[in-house]
Amino acid sequence: MLEVRHLVKHFGGLYAVDDVSFTVKTGTITGLIGPNGAGKTTLFHTIAGGYRPDRGEVFLGPKRISGLPPHRIFQLGLVRTFQIPKPFREMTVLENLMVAAPGQLGERFWSAWVAGRRVRRQEREIRERAVQVMEFLNLGRVAQELAKNLSGGQQKLVEIGRALMSDPQCILLDEPGAGVNPSLLVEIVDRIAELNSRGITFLLIEHNMDVVMNLCDPVLVMAQGRLLLEGPPDLVRSDSRVLDAYLGGTPA
Ligand SMILES: Nc1ncnc2c1ncn2[C@@H]1O[C@H](COP(=O)(O)OP(=O)(O)O)[C@@H](O)[C@H]1O
Ligand SMILES: [Mg+2]
Repeated sequence: MLEVRHLVKHFGGLYAVDDVSFTVKTGTITGLIGPNGAGKTTLFHTIAGGYRPDRGEVFLGPKRISGLPPHRIFQLGLVRTFQIPKPFREMTVLENLMVAAPGQLGERFWSAWVAGRRVRRQEREIRERAVQVMEFLNLGRVAQELAKNLSGGQQKLVEIGRALMSDPQCILLDEPGAGVNPSLLVEIVDRIAELNSRGITFLLIEHNMDVVMNLCDPVLVMAQGRLLLEGPPDLVRSDSRVLDAYLGGTPA
């Protein structure tokens, strides 16, 4: 599904992503763990087109996506969510989902009165999809709530909902469990598993080890901009190099 080859992204002399290569197989929930500052978020940003890679390539299926602008990568079926949710705070949940739908005629045909009917039909379809997504994520009750009034966990769900509006093949999730209360976390984990069983591939950054152990296989470990190792979750958990990396030891 996704192949990263020798990817490099540096900020001056700091190599946040330093020659990283891996593949995410279709149908998996691949985990990405590593201590703070390892380069995980920068890696996501570089894959999704937010940063231009300094070196290396990224392929989505057979298509080379590195160097493409974020909206093109998005249209090709790869979406990402943010570590810190970025909803439009003054919009409702419903509106936040609707504006995340891709290729809206309403924007492109803004002034063309002839397109009015098509715009209205498309808006109706987008609204229907948003309602389905909200039902799936159990957000129906807060559909008319402003995003800024939601809990951190609900905002994470809205982020996932916004990603789902485009019918993606592959979702990059940045810490879906961060700042989420335990009961909502169970719900989020369950929804991710359900989406995966419906065919969506995930690459997931997460610090909560229960979440990683429950959902992810394989698990990739990053430290200091590099891929340290990759393997099934139980092997990764018991690997001393991973513990060393988290304790700030020098990676073997
Ligand atoms: N925009 C930026 N400018 C300069 N340095 C950055 C920038 N973004 C991240 N970094 C640095 O790159 C390294 C990796 O950060 P990040 O990708 O956020 O790690 P992680 O998500 O694994 O915690 C850190 O040392 C961080 O300070
Ligand atoms: Mg991060």
